[in-house]
Amino acid sequence: MTLPLSVWNTAPTSAPAQRKGRYIPGSAAHPAKMLPAIAAHAIATYTRPGDLVLDPMCGIGTTLVEALHLGRNALGIEYEPKWATLASLNARSAAQESDAGTGTVRCGDARRLTDLAPASARGEVALVVTSPPYGSSVHGQVRSTRDTGERGVVKKNFRYGHDRDNLAHVSTTHLLEAFTEILAQCHTMLRPGGTVVVTTRPWRARGELIDLPSAVLAAGKAAGLAPSERCVALLAGIRDGRLVSRPSFFQMKNVRDARRQGMPLSVIQHEDVLVFTRLPSDTNAPASVARFRSRTCVPRAPRGGHGGC
Ligand SMILES: C[S@@+](CC[C@H](N)C(=O)[O-])C[C@H]1O[C@@H](n2cnc3c(N)ncnc32)[C@H](O)[C@@H]1O
Repeated sequence: MTLPLSVWNTAPTSAPAQRKGRYIPGSAAHPAKMLPAIAAHAIATYTRPGDLVLDPMCGIGTTLVEALHLGRNALGIEYEPKWATLASLNARSAAQESDAGTGTVRCGDARRLTDLAPASARGEVALVVTSPPYGSSVHGQVRSTRDTGERGVVKKNFRYGHDRDNLAHVSTTHLLEAFTEILAQCHTMLRPGGTVVVTTRPWRARGELIDLPSAVLAAGKAAGLAPSERCVALLAGIRDGRLVSRPSFFQMKNVRDARRQGMPLSVIQHEDVLVFTRLPSDTNAPASVARFRSRTCVPRAPRGGHGGC
């Protein structure tokens, strides 16, 4: 099935510029924050003021902050207490500034989303915007000798936390099983006709391409959601008709290392955006999660190629 595709111009300015003045100090330490303009674009496109927006893996609360600034209400779940605290503080400050909506953050495992969320939110969510933890090889910030006094470049802030149950630390197969359960819980939280937006990227492990976007598409279907669009959210700016790339230090390093080994890699300039709908007629809880478990397949391709299951 070919899904409608659109390109979202989500990086006209850099991530720090998009965050400036809206996020409290300390937020930068999260290793894999969503670009604020991606959340804002999804919220503006799929909801109206006063609607409820949910992020079941909310990190430092980008989805919540952008929802509140657009006059929506926001609910977030985050597993790691330190990120949940930052999400809560970011949401509180955004709610005060926008004076339009309310933001709620709960700390816990999103596989128990329907228990953790306020009962009043069940069946009321207009939009889920989320991103699973993945591809840690490109996470982190660089500290130079000038910053640290140590020789060479030091990688900082590349971990979500040390809890081995955080889904950032499990195998890709386990991550997909858990993410399917989380999407099934989102299905219960959504109002009929509600939308789910998931951003992901493929990445490489030991030279193999891990096609997470295709696997997430399958996870959404298994959770009872209907795929409705597959979009491209740009991580690069556009100037004079050309892309202006803003890769992280580690993205550049990984690509250079791969090229030295003869792999013709390029820096990824976009996130894949997978859009699903809870069909208005669909009142049943998804029954296919268990079936998905027994046939989970992470699409892989050989070195340098693209492929599927
Ligand atoms: C890609 S990050 C999301 C970042 C977020 N969009 C932001 O901009 O800050 C994924 C988050 O999922 C959290 N996480 C991992 N396992 C989880 C679980 N079982 N339930 C809820 N959150 C989880 C991680 O701690 C991490 O903060």
